[in-house]
Amino acid sequence: MNVVTLAGSTNVESRSTALLAFMESQLHRRGIETRRFSPDNFPLQALVNADHAHPIIRAFQATLARANAVIVATPVYQASFSGALKLLLDLIPQRGLEHCTVQTLATGGGDQHLLMLDYALKPVLSAMGTTHQLPGIYAGPGHLGRCPSGHHVPGPEIRQRMAQAVETITHLLEARRLEPLPHREKPVFSLAQAG
Ligand SMILES: Cc1cc2nc3c(=O)[nH]c(=O)nc-3n(C[C@H](O)[C@H](O)[C@H](O)COP(=O)(O)O)c2cc1C
Repeated sequence: MNVVTLAGSTNVESRSTALLAFMESQLHRRGIETRRFSPDNFPLQALVNADHAHPIIRAFQATLARANAVIVATPVYQASFSGALKLLLDLIPQRGLEHCTVQTLATGGGDQHLLMLDYALKPVLSAMGTTHQLPGIYAGPGHLGRCPSGHHVPGPEIRQRMAQAVETITHLLEARRLEPLPHREKPVFSLAQAG
């Protein structure tokens, strides 16, 4: 069972990454592993050119190919998702999300761009093959607070929505674990073994 998370902001005090971190921590508490990627993980030239032959990008693709769920976090930039997230999405092969359930998270400077998730991000993820997208979660400025150490933290309403999403992802992953292996992964029974 594994979950890949994509951070579409490289801000040190990122609000969208704070949402992502909250979901990751909730999944960890349920024993589910997550692996986070952000643009910082890749050499700039390879990232900007979407160099699919680069070993670091190939390793990212291999991790993604083993994932059952992907959580995507982004700030709203110009009524769309961030360029940083687009750089990460460009590293994913065609139909690379076919096997994944996807959860999207976004933060914006106001509440008016809530629909960005449905109008801008969802179609792109659908084109990458995902057939199962959970309802997106959007946090405006009023949905986030700060903890005593000064970091952004999601407020109660968003925490509740993310807890529900974590519940759904946990059930989906568990159901997938119990599914019979796909044909290509079945152990090969050879005539030699049959004796
Ligand atoms: C270049 C730029 C464009 C932005 N465009 C929008 C926008 O169209 N709508 C909106 O609600 N907020 C917009 N914002 C505000 C960010 O979405 C908001 O501050 C977000 O929470 C930042 O997330 P982050 O801390 O994860 O980077 C914009 C911010 C920047 C820097």
